[in-house]
Amino acid sequence: MAPRAAVEVRTLRKRFRIYHQRNQTLKQTLVKRGRGAYEEFWAVRDISLSVEPGTTLGIIGANGSGKSTLLKCIAGILPPDQGSVRVRGRLSALLEIGSGFHPEYSGRENIFLNGALLGLPRRYIQQVYDDIVAFSELERFIDNPVKTYSSGQYMRLGFSVAVHLDPDVLLIDEVLAVGDQAFQQRCLDRIDQLKAQGRTIIFVSHGLGAVRDLCDTVLWMDGGAALALGPTERVVGEYVAFVNAHEAARLDQEMNSRPVLPGGRAGVGITDITFLGPGGRTALFDTGDPFELRIAYTAPGPLVGARFYVSIVREDGVVALTVPTDDEAMKDRVLPPSGVVALRIPALPLLEGLFRVTVGIAEIETNEWYTLLDRIYPFRVHSADRGERGVALLGQRWTLPAPERRTLTA
Ligand SMILES: Nc1ncnc2c1ncn2[C@@H]1O[C@H](COP(=O)(O)OP(=O)(O)O)[C@@H](O)[C@H]1O
Ligand SMILES: [Mg+2]
Repeated sequence: MAPRAAVEVRTLRKRFRIYHQRNQTLKQTLVKRGRGAYEEFWAVRDISLSVEPGTTLGIIGANGSGKSTLLKCIAGILPPDQGSVRVRGRLSALLEIGSGFHPEYSGRENIFLNGALLGLPRRYIQQVYDDIVAFSELERFIDNPVKTYSSGQYMRLGFSVAVHLDPDVLLIDEVLAVGDQAFQQRCLDRIDQLKAQGRTIIFVSHGLGAVRDLCDTVLWMDGGAALALGPTERVVGEYVAFVNAHEAARLDQEMNSRPVLPGGRAGVGITDITFLGPGGRTALFDTGDPFELRIAYTAPGPLVGARFYVSIVREDGVVALTVPTDDEAMKDRVLPPSGVVALRIPALPLLEGLFRVTVGIAEIETNEWYTLLDRIYPFRVHSADRGERGVALLGQRWTLPAPERRTLTA
């Protein structure tokens, strides 16, 4: 017989109300009661799942798709409107900031309070108390009320409490969203350990890397419903494909609803800008793809002594590259009254990110712009995550000493 599931959720539904000011929205959808008009919507609809003991389930999906609400229903913090939840064993949960701790109590008091709520003997909590404080690195602050903690400190204490109180089932909501990189890594290592000990974990995360590393199965939620539930690689793959397609459509729309480009000084202007990738026109690239930026210009007559200029700027303002044409070569060069100037990058070295291009044409002699289009069009770069961080690959290589011949010991 198959082992009994550690967590079983059957056709779970959870409804919320959004209150409106009177006479503000569509009357048909509104019900009027004492507190005014409200609209009801299902934040979780018909979710069924079962998590086998000792396995890890990941939950992914866009913001507002119902992940936290589902987790709160499993934790027993929110009552479901329909369906049922069954958890076998001791459950501990690290949910969103704001749930779990009493703000007026100190960190120390909250540790004991949480343990008591889980039904753990005081003796046991005393034994793990030092470990909890050490892991959270809150020694100096542990006697302050938790309402004075920063969100990072709050999360560190929450995570530390949740993992040290000997849970059979551990629920974790977006721990990786706050806290520094080093602490996130320690959290992941800790989750790994609990997994190795055979604990059952449900893990909500935006970090697809962590989901891939840790989860056996994944639930993908959208609008409160399950879009996919199954083995990690399959569901994450479908999710990534969906997100990419969605983004491609959005970028495409932005490219197609392009504003009319303003005419420039002295009748010299840019009429069109396009990106070309390996398969033609696109706004989506992978690191290493051939990249071409085409600038169509127009001038009242032959164009002499012009400088074309491109800058590639990441969403956060970091400039990846600014590059003008060569003034020496362009000084006396006569270009036709209209034409296309292209900037080619044979293998795009940029790492993951959303980038925009700034494109301009200037008069070399006076150094004055004919036209300058600031951060006008976006393109997206995807990278296979091999742990590199930063703006671009630099052609880097590691060299290692020659391998030792391994001596086999009997
Ligand atoms: N207490 C609440 N009252 C009303 N609406 C809520 C409440 N909590 C969450 N919601 C709404 O339910 C939807 C799902 O939210 P949530 O579960 O937090 O999504 P996720 O964690 O996937 O971002 C969102 O539209 C959110 O605004
Ligand atoms: Mg959430």
